[in-house]
Amino acid sequence: MIYEIVKYPDPVLQRPAEPVTEFDSKLRRLVEDMFASMYEAHGIGLAAPQIGISKRLTVIDLSFQKNPEEKIVLINPKIVTAEGKQYEEEGCLSLPDIRDKVRRAAHVKVQAQDVQGKPVEIEGDELLARAFQHEIDHLDGILFFDRLSRLKRDLQLRKIRKMIQAGEW
Ligand code: NI
Repeated sequence: MIYEIVKYPDPVLQRPAEPVTEFDSKLRRLVEDMFASMYEAHGIGLAAPQIGISKRLTVIDLSFQKNPEEKIVLINPKIVTAEGKQYEEEGCLSLPDIRDKVRRAAHVKVQAQDVQGKPVEIEGDELLARAFQHEIDHLDGILFFDRLSRLKRDLQLRKIRKMIQAGEW
């Protein structure tokens, strides 16, 4: 099933998600549906709150369907080390047409569980490190524009309000 992407200012995007506790066939189906919904929306990362499900689960595929080995599922993830700095532009399926440069760590290590509940550890640099931080932020109710300066965030919020009023959101 293809889920519709939830957009800001839906409250599900702005509250911490609940841990996943059941590693069953329903979860496996949800993971498959999240990949399908992400591809349908032309995204490279999707967190469960973005489809209205407040669970600590995210999927990432930087290859966008080209390499099955790059499909990543992170369940109950946490960042255990973060090193270096990067400052690159980000976008988000829940904030269409909004892009801005965000300060992130350049290299992160993440501990999580796979779809069977087994512990996994995965490291990422550059774009992958950014995807990990962006998606795990979603599980904590944080959107990328919350990481901007107050001034830049207000500018983006004004843009969004205008789009909402114009019926373009
Ligand atoms: Ni996002």
